[in-house]
Amino acid sequence: MNRFGKAGYALDHVAIVVGDLDASVEFYTRTLGLEVVYRQTIPGQGVEAVGLDAGDSIIELLRPLDEESPIARFRGDASTKLHHTAYRVGDIRAELARLKSAGVRLIDDQPRRGAHGNIIAFLHPKSTGGVLIELCERDPASTPLTDP
Ligand code: CO
Repeated sequence: MNRFGKAGYALDHVAIVVGDLDASVEFYTRTLGLEVVYRQTIPGQGVEAVGLDAGDSIIELLRPLDEESPIARFRGDASTKLHHTAYRVGDIRAELARLKSAGVRLIDDQPRRGAHGNIIAFLHPKSTGGVLIELCERDPASTPLTDP
């Protein structure tokens, strides 16, 4: 479990849309030596995600399942692009309420099920300086970091 900073945030994962998922997984595993901790296809989001163990945090590589995927549209003409940074918080509902009252624009008013045993919510990049930010909280009822 990550160490939380004084604000109660801990970097959980950094998600990158990549042009060639297999080539990227090969680089991270064979060249850097990181281990794959999950590999999941999430049809509802039009994405395949591979999570790699980077110590206290995860590097998550994303591949759109097709060109209609929101992630494909996000990537546009770029081959590879930072998609979001995700911070673990202790109480996601309380933090969303706090941010909303502070005027932060939320994509998800209510948390929902994420890709990797988390409950998640996104903050709108218009409120965050341009980078999509995800908040996440581990769901104790879920099986952590493994494919079903
Ligand atoms: Co994420």
